[in-house]
Amino acid sequence: MSVHPDGEMSGDGIFLRWDNVTYDVPDGGSKVKGATKRILHPIFGSVAPGEMLAIMGPSGCGKSSLINILAQRRRGEDSVAGSIQVNGKEIESNEFSRLMGYVTQDFIFFDHLTVRETLSISASLRLPRTWSRAQKMARVDDLLRDLDLAKAADTMVGSPVATGASAGAGGISGGERRRLCMAMELMNDAPLLFLDEPTSGLDSASALMVVNVLKKLASQGKTIVCVIHQPRASILPLFTRVLLLGGGKTVYYGPSCNFGTDIDPMRDFFAKAGHACPSFENPADFILDIVNTTPATGDTGSDGNADEKGAIVGADDMRNVVVDGLAATYAASGLITEMRALLPIGDGKSMPVIKGVDTGRRYATSWCNQFAVLWLRTFKLKFRDPMSFGTVIGGMISVGLLMGSIYFDLEPGDVRNRVAGISMYIAFVSFMTFDILMLWPAERSIYLRDQISGMYCTSAFYIARSFAEAPTHMLCGLIGALLTYYLYGLQNDFDHVLMYCFISVVTVMSASSILMWVSSLAKNFEQSNQMMMPILLPCMFFSGFFISEDMIPSMWSWVPDVNFLYYSTNYAIVNEIQTVEGGCAGALLGSLDCSAAASACALNVTSEEIAVASLAAAAELTPEQQLLECNAVLRAMGFDPDMKFSSFIYCHIWTNVLFRTMGYLGLRFCWTGQSLKQRLQI
Ligand SMILES: Nc1ncnc2c1ncn2[C@@H]1O[C@H](COP(=O)(O)OP(=O)(O)O)[C@@H](O)[C@H]1O
Ligand SMILES: [Mg+2]
Repeated sequence: MSVHPDGEMSGDGIFLRWDNVTYDVPDGGSKVKGATKRILHPIFGSVAPGEMLAIMGPSGCGKSSLINILAQRRRGEDSVAGSIQVNGKEIESNEFSRLMGYVTQDFIFFDHLTVRETLSISASLRLPRTWSRAQKMARVDDLLRDLDLAKAADTMVGSPVATGASAGAGGISGGERRRLCMAMELMNDAPLLFLDEPTSGLDSASALMVVNVLKKLASQGKTIVCVIHQPRASILPLFTRVLLLGGGKTVYYGPSCNFGTDIDPMRDFFAKAGHACPSFENPADFILDIVNTTPATGDTGSDGNADEKGAIVGADDMRNVVVDGLAATYAASGLITEMRALLPIGDGKSMPVIKGVDTGRRYATSWCNQFAVLWLRTFKLKFRDPMSFGTVIGGMISVGLLMGSIYFDLEPGDVRNRVAGISMYIAFVSFMTFDILMLWPAERSIYLRDQISGMYCTSAFYIARSFAEAPTHMLCGLIGALLTYYLYGLQNDFDHVLMYCFISVVTVMSASSILMWVSSLAKNFEQSNQMMMPILLPCMFFSGFFISEDMIPSMWSWVPDVNFLYYSTNYAIVNEIQTVEGGCAGALLGSLDCSAAASACALNVTSEEIAVASLAAAAELTPEQQLLECNAVLRAMGFDPDMKFSSFIYCHIWTNVLFRTMGYLGLRFCWTGQSLKQRLQI
């Protein structure tokens, strides 16, 4: 066999055969603990290179479950039993994932990449490392042409459910999305293709076009398994065989219908079973109607009276009777035995080999290539997505200007407001990286899909993503720091500005590592938003400004020691106050007096008066005495004037390392839809 036009693939193709495949799930409705319900009753089937199998049946009959099992998406689950063989051998390893493409029912893309970019990224990650960039891009062009996507190549993919600001912003059509998904899965010329309802939601012309593309691929020697829903009459004969399911049971498995010929085993089977298809009826609709006999009333509302409910239950029973009857007829027909004997197992056939692909490796390209491609992808997306760059930077500028206008041009002696302004800024800046929470759910779904199909490893994705969003977050920290620093009128001295900016940037990075961890533990944005508050708020409360250390209840006393915001706030305040020009000690004496008699001070003495008096007092002191006084005041306000730069930086290093590691583990093991055992194998 030579599948690729350039002869890149050799081997005998893929003979896929499954027998006695069953699938059980926990029965939520049962009161018995551990009870299960059977979704798939023993199913047999087989497809060879050049063949197309259609899996059909009414909604909920187990089509997606079966195709998921065949495509190894339920690997290692105890609930799946039976044998699945490729070329006569039981499937054992994950490497098989590289030999198959799986077009799922729900496909997600990044809205802000064009069709060509989406495919180019897939090409860079899926095609063998020996291919040059030009070869990879030529493959993208071929796919764009073959799947009739050339016209839409430079259109943004967009969102299928555009709402709010993006409503009407366009994006590609439903048919183009499906063809794009197929193009992604056809990228590495996998010899085995699974497709779950590739034609659903398409008009009949687009559906026919999709199936014709599949037929062409099959004629090149690929093995194709396709779940198909409501095919038009001209589509069904394009398939080699049909597996019709009803309630998880095989109702028919055999050759597809043959219009206008005398030999039509499918029609014959149903006619013998008492369901002769009228001449001018679409056989696909006809057989689906038989296995999907629906309640005549149609209304299943909770206020339905007893008679209606009885009718519905009756209709359900009737459906079961029809399906069970057909399944029994099929089992007794001998067709299955014939199929078992006739269909080739592919024993001894060689597995396809894609030139340049080392199937011993789990991924097509190196870790460094994965990292580079993913870094660029995330970086582009962050810039294009208005939820990310625009919102974060715009938000930071607004907050910076707002705070700057509140604590505008502070007097050197106005220590109280300096401390307040700096503390508030440090607390706010840690909330500015919320784009992580919003974008994570979509990214996680794409990560899971790509990772299962062997495009990249978790670490490459996670590290690339962290590095790609760091510049935006660092810029956010820098802008906020410069705005507040100069609007507050803090010391105009390069060393101090630099340190303040550094503290701000480091704080944003630590906060974003915590948010990354939170969002990796949460299932969706709503959940991560709920989880963020109880985690970041205590950090803010115990940052030193809102409650002094000696007042912290003992159950919370450990928090400041591990709180990155405490270290940032403390260090930023010490950086400014300890060396403020013009006699900080005097200014501090003023605020010390103030804190000793707070209410009287607040009512009767203005901060200017305190400053003037303090400056006069400070003039009497030596610089050493000033520093001592200053430190005493900082202590009285609950800050630690002796905090070392090293303690500050250590706290941020471990916060980043700990939370980013936990974020990695969350991404790898939480909400993956797979068991721990399965995830450990990947
Ligand atoms: N993990 C699961 N837990 C409980 N029920 C499930 C699970 N997976 C599938 N099912 C049930 O199995 C049936 C078949 O599902 P599915 O294979 O998605 O159907 P189809 O693709 O034919 O519409 C449905 O009734 C569905 O609710
Ligand atoms: Mg389905």
